[in-house]
Amino acid sequence: MVTLRPGPVTIGGVTLKNHLILAAGILGTTGASLDRMLRMGAGGVVTKSIGPEPKDGHAGPCLVVLNGGILNAMGLPNPSRDFVSEIETLAKKPVIVSIYGGTPEEFAMVAEWFKGTAAGIELNLSCPHAEGYGSALGTDPDLVTSCTRAVSRLGMPTWIKLTPNVTDITAIGKAAEEGGASAIVAINTVKAMRISTGLKRPVLGNRFGGLSGKPIFPIAVRCVYELYEACKVPIIGCGGISTAKDVVEMMMAGASAVQIGSAVHADVRIFETITKSLYSANGVPADGIIGCAHD
Ligand code: SIN
Repeated sequence: MVTLRPGPVTIGGVTLKNHLILAAGILGTTGASLDRMLRMGAGGVVTKSIGPEPKDGHAGPCLVVLNGGILNAMGLPNPSRDFVSEIETLAKKPVIVSIYGGTPEEFAMVAEWFKGTAAGIELNLSCPHAEGYGSALGTDPDLVTSCTRAVSRLGMPTWIKLTPNVTDITAIGKAAEEGGASAIVAINTVKAMRISTGLKRPVLGNRFGGLSGKPIFPIAVRCVYELYEACKVPIIGCGGISTAKDVVEMMMAGASAVQIGSAVHADVRIFETITKSLYSANGVPADGIIGCAHD
């Protein structure tokens, strides 16, 4: 397998220690756990999504592990503005704050709280199960453009996390680009559900949730491939990545970096594990393989 040259990289306005980023929603609720993942080999980390008001989230069960994947409907639980002090000590580190809102104004307000602390902002326009938030806005290209613009005009690196639950993801990617996105992240979870045959009712408290992990990797590769042909901003691949070979495949599809989430559940040392096989002193520059599957 091809290996990459190690070293820091700047992607979407954020300088990362390597190409591997902790995805939003996993170990991202405290400054201590984010710092721990940086010390354990993550090149950058994304926080749990923070919104305009504190939120308890959906009634449980909120998460089930199934067939190698994870189905969740957490419901965006978060402490809102109190999270600013949680990450103050990480101000000089590659910490990207994931935020959500119901309007462009709410996105701008939440992003502003993190000016001077966050290395960048990731807009959650893609959670598939939070009424009035996430994909409720992120499936409408005009709203994607206006939410993106509301944050990008603040001058902070602005990443937009896209939903795969649309007919044409390139229309959403282009809308983010029009709003001034510094990078697009593809993909968030795939809307899904399971039913307990014993209880004769949906397994999740919220009925519907989002599927992540290995089962969605081929969907994520397809989305990144399509976005690479339609957009100019860097793409960060996300969805079911768990090996160095997955990282290389994502890059060949067009990703400049990747985010890893569900695989951290199975192996908290996943960043060190992948780094050992992905990088070598005689590795090629990442630019040599990014998008090469399109040639
Ligand atoms: C959640 O908190 O419900 C998950 C967030 C997401 O899917 O973006």
